[in-house]
Amino acid sequence: MSDFPLFPPGFVLGAATASYQIEGAVREDGRGPSIWDTYSHTPGLVAGGDTGDVACDHYHRYPRDVALLRELGVGSYRFSVAWPRVVPDGTGPVNPKGLDFYSRLVDELLAAGIEPAVTLYHWDLPQALEDRGGWRVRETAERFAEYTAVVAGHLGDRVPRWITLNEPWCSAFLGYSVGRHAPGAREGRGALAAAHHLLVGHGLAVRALREAGVREVGVTINLDHNLPATGSPADLAAVVRADTQHNLVWTEPLLAGRYPATEEETWGELIADPDFRLDGDLELITQPLDFLGVNYYRPIVVADAPHREGDPARRVATDNRYEEVRLPGARHTAMDWPVVPGTLTDLLVRLKDRYGEALPPVYLTENGSAEDDEVGADGAVHDTDRVAYLRDHLSALREAMDAGVDVRGYYVWSLLDNFEWAYGYGRRFGIVRVDYATQARVPKDSYHWYRAMIAAQPG
Ligand code: FCB
Repeated sequence: MSDFPLFPPGFVLGAATASYQIEGAVREDGRGPSIWDTYSHTPGLVAGGDTGDVACDHYHRYPRDVALLRELGVGSYRFSVAWPRVVPDGTGPVNPKGLDFYSRLVDELLAAGIEPAVTLYHWDLPQALEDRGGWRVRETAERFAEYTAVVAGHLGDRVPRWITLNEPWCSAFLGYSVGRHAPGAREGRGALAAAHHLLVGHGLAVRALREAGVREVGVTINLDHNLPATGSPADLAAVVRADTQHNLVWTEPLLAGRYPATEEETWGELIADPDFRLDGDLELITQPLDFLGVNYYRPIVVADAPHREGDPARRVATDNRYEEVRLPGARHTAMDWPVVPGTLTDLLVRLKDRYGEALPPVYLTENGSAEDDEVGADGAVHDTDRVAYLRDHLSALREAMDAGVDVRGYYVWSLLDNFEWAYGYGRRFGIVRVDYATQARVPKDSYHWYRAMIAAQPG
């Protein structure tokens, strides 16, 4: 008997990364600036003043990284294409050298027997488009569709799985209301318009991908499993608001053809007369998908928190309308996130219960943990906490499948330690350690565990 969670034949076991977090080479071969270049170069915004200028130097070292994937035995690798590498100004001339990089990466993966899975937008918006309003304006959604058509036209014959957006919640709310992500805006209505335009951009990109004839089209959202801090009516109402803002804002239009019924009680007058929503948008957003990508890391314990009147940015920010409280008794990762694997099962079963047949097959497109890794005297990284985290979440995923949720695959976040957004290089999620001074890669125990687990699968 194997100690590893076992999955049906054909189940995809993969690993994930994102462009700005690993590539570096930000001024090379015609890449234009992105909002994350601007944000990370603004003093005080990213811990330690870290930037993605060099990151894991994956732009130059991708053959080594693909070799690590091959030795790991993954069936698929999820990476993102940097829009400003392909269309440096967000619109206008296409940069052949940018396309060529991804083309070479795809060929390298295929030669290693690994299916590429492309994310088209993992947060690195061309700065030129932000200067024209960013996701607050509809034009960005239209430009996104044009860029999608370019990438799909170039890679569509070789890449089977396509993800339009990664975690639009972060783009809209961390980017335009909390200000913890690029472009660092703190607005109310602007964030809600951004959320809508991201969905419109998704819909337009789905159309472009269908026209290009690619095999599988989906989108990745980060869903939260929100638990009330207490049974008080105020905390229960806070959970409804948290659920609306984190989950329903995406799943209702994407899967059910409607906006959340609870949006008014969540956002009040900020959502009144939403003139950014046009006739026909819902039909565009609710197109059939081949899969839903779900990113999941931790449950959120939600407590009521008062409005701060007169500050519309904070009215949609998670730190005002409700707050996250610490879960007593749970182990917490280096992100201070509680580890409760069974909540992944609950989340997926709830999703299935709510949407039934309208829920497409699911891929868990990200899951993993940041730990305070240390390099041992033997030169290895014995990350036993990460191994336990991965094992327990894979088991919880298997339980969701046993309970009837159609899950097709799992991607560990992340192949490499990398630039963890506002935390800079201070948080390590990789199953491979990166020594940023030398760019040496050291597979951690979790890499060896994942490799053995993949090898133990029946298919
Ligand atoms: C997700 C992001 C990913 C990574 C992980 C830890 O929100 O999609 O880029 O930062 O969190």
